[in-house]
Amino acid sequence: MFVVSLSCDPGIGRAVAAETGWRYCEALRKVFPDGERYVRIPEDCSLNGERAVVVQSMYPNQDSMIVEALLAADALKEVTGLEPIAVVPYLAYARQDRAFLQGEAVSVRAMLRALHSAGYGGLVVVDIHKEDSLRHFPGRAVNVLPVNTLANALRDFVEDPIVVSPDKGAAKRAEALSKALATEYRIVEKFRDRLTGEIRHRFVPMPEVRGRDVIVVDDIMSTGGTMASVVRFLREQGARKVIVAVSHGPLTEKALARLTNAGVTKIFSMVTTCYRLEHPLITYLSPVEEVLQAIKEVLGMG
Ligand code: R5P
Repeated sequence: MFVVSLSCDPGIGRAVAAETGWRYCEALRKVFPDGERYVRIPEDCSLNGERAVVVQSMYPNQDSMIVEALLAADALKEVTGLEPIAVVPYLAYARQDRAFLQGEAVSVRAMLRALHSAGYGGLVVVDIHKEDSLRHFPGRAVNVLPVNTLANALRDFVEDPIVVSPDKGAAKRAEALSKALATEYRIVEKFRDRLTGEIRHRFVPMPEVRGRDVIVVDDIMSTGGTMASVVRFLREQGARKVIVAVSHGPLTEKALARLTNAGVTKIFSMVTTCYRLEHPLITYLSPVEEVLQAIKEVLGMG
């Protein structure tokens, strides 16, 4: 086995190689003057008959990162004779998981089919927007929910917490985290205007959060709009601390300001992309332990 990092590996490839003793290398990459990408697997890294694990996240520069991942699969299949495994800590385009309006592309389906057709036989993703989307990947695919890593970090920070999901779709995540923390969870209702993209919540009073520490858990935070709205509501309901926990946090300064104004106490984010905003309110956690387990699962090793 060997591990290959592409342009956006948030430290997972090297950590997996160190943990397993698998060989580690970085693919050679360049960008041609017209903007097209080039990938080459170094000769001293790839061996015929050895399977590769390719690590490539997809934020920022989603489209270029996707193309690199496709090119790497093509090269690896050729030099090793085996289908590589893709580890994609953040899978771009996952939120468009159905045709909300007639004629829309189901982007996640297109992405997963493309990865498989390029040559990937197995796939590991971290907290994909909807786990069910993985049915579009014809090979073996595992979704990592890094709840243990999150729960371990949260335990030191909260007392008798209650977990809240900002929408129905994230309920499974909230349930898993509340189980790991031996507590209960609640769901708030969210609507998104499909044309304007505007988010609206329908808040029903939640007296049970008064004086309690609340953890709001979601897959991703980008503009911070969803979280800010929920954090504000929970503060108004009398929550003591409101902690936000997300798997993917490509958070901008503007988004952070929104959350701060809403009254967030602390933000925990997994390191799944190649962008990170450094701020004392934010603590980053690595999902590497759970990712390694998932790689082994895809490989049928445990
Ligand atoms: C949507 O359903 C996702 O789970 C997130 O809640 C959403 O994408 C977060 O985006 P934003 O931070 O822009 O509100």
